[in-house]
Amino acid sequence: MKIQAINGFKDILPEAVGRWQYIERQARDIFARFGFQEIRMPILEKTELFVRSIGEATDVVEKEMYTFADKGITMRPEATASVMRAFIEHGLHVQQPVQRLYTIGPMFRHERPQKGRLRQFHQLDAEIIGAAEPRVDAELIAMGQMLLDELGLTVSLELNSLGCPICRPPFKERLVLFLAERHQALCDDCRRRTHTNPLRVLDCKKESCRAVVQEAPSLLEVLCPDCDRHFTEVRSALEELGIVFSINRFMVRGLDYYTRTTFEFLTADLGAQAAVGAGGRYDGLIEQLGGPSLSGIGFAMGLERLALLMEQQQNRLIPAKSMDIFVAALGMTTVAFSGQLTHALRQQGAKAAIDYSGRSLKAQLKQAGRVNARFTLIVGEDEWARGEAILRDMQTQKQQPVLLSGPIEEQARSLFAMIQTAARP
Ligand code: HAM
Repeated sequence: MKIQAINGFKDILPEAVGRWQYIERQARDIFARFGFQEIRMPILEKTELFVRSIGEATDVVEKEMYTFADKGITMRPEATASVMRAFIEHGLHVQQPVQRLYTIGPMFRHERPQKGRLRQFHQLDAEIIGAAEPRVDAELIAMGQMLLDELGLTVSLELNSLGCPICRPPFKERLVLFLAERHQALCDDCRRRTHTNPLRVLDCKKESCRAVVQEAPSLLEVLCPDCDRHFTEVRSALEELGIVFSINRFMVRGLDYYTRTTFEFLTADLGAQAAVGAGGRYDGLIEQLGGPSLSGIGFAMGLERLALLMEQQQNRLIPAKSMDIFVAALGMTTVAFSGQLTHALRQQGAKAAIDYSGRSLKAQLKQAGRVNARFTLIVGEDEWARGEAILRDMQTQKQQPVLLSGPIEEQARSLFAMIQTAARP
């Protein structure tokens, strides 16, 4: 009986890994340009961390977490809470008041798997801690946009403000009243949410609920003066940086820690999974987790969704895997030497492949093609006995003799230099 991977958990096969590595390289490069440093946290955290940050009445905490109930620990469903836990635990603000941190890794949510939605997925997560200015919001969003641009992806950016503990509670009360009056028209989930998490109703995808909330009061119209000023300044700072966005007053996000600015990078190309990345400000979170009173903002992008979108929008070619040289030992007498030479070539820095079977030239050239070798060194028995081999350029099919003399390191060095020169356009 074959054993298969668990539903919603996926292997990333070698042919896809190239694209993943490319995305990660671009992300690391851009994050570094913006002064971010990498942090890595464990995958398991105390369950309480997520309950206190993401919020008890959210879908993530209510029904999506992989929790070991007897041990009180949970596989992280996102990275922000863990970054904050580590930040507080190690007092990172003491060394440097503003921290720019990023992390890349797997997250776990028990959601219904579909295209672009997995139970183990991967995020690129970036956080700026200790800076409250609206320009920081714009800078962070611009960084996300820059990454998407450099990956050649076309997405749209939506922006909203969720206010703060001053202006949101009175708005919530108004919203609850409004929703309670329209109870009949709401879906079952939203009837329940009206009392547990009323803002989420604004975000419901069901037609009936969408129709109801079109008329709902808008938080943007009742922001307190500070939040209102902040939102205005974020918008103008984004405009100054040439970032195109639209306002979506129905965007509420699925995590409770957000305050003020929230945003999502969206695409119509991934079916129901529209969000390629999302984030926002979380000004009370660090204090709520027992840390200093510092503000923060961040975003996370889903690597699976970025990779899918790149594949779909097909506007960037990822260089195929390739080897510099394939060493074809023809006949068993040349295998030992060919193995030594291959090892020495690798020590010189060459990407070298070899076949130890001693089989025919035809079979080995085929193998060289499969591994996408730029050159093949044909080590035939007669030539080798004379201290020679043949170097074949796999692109032009041209062949030339090469001399094999002196210590093996010397042979490898001059051969590698030769193919590097020959490969130059
Ligand atoms: P989130 O909106 O829950 O935010 O997730 C961010 C991104 O992760 C989504 O836009 C999506 O691309 C990807 N993602 C989420 N769930 C899945 C899934 N089941 N399968 C595949 N991809 C998924 C957060 O996680 C926040 N921590 C973002 C943040 C950082 N806010 C502030 N700092």
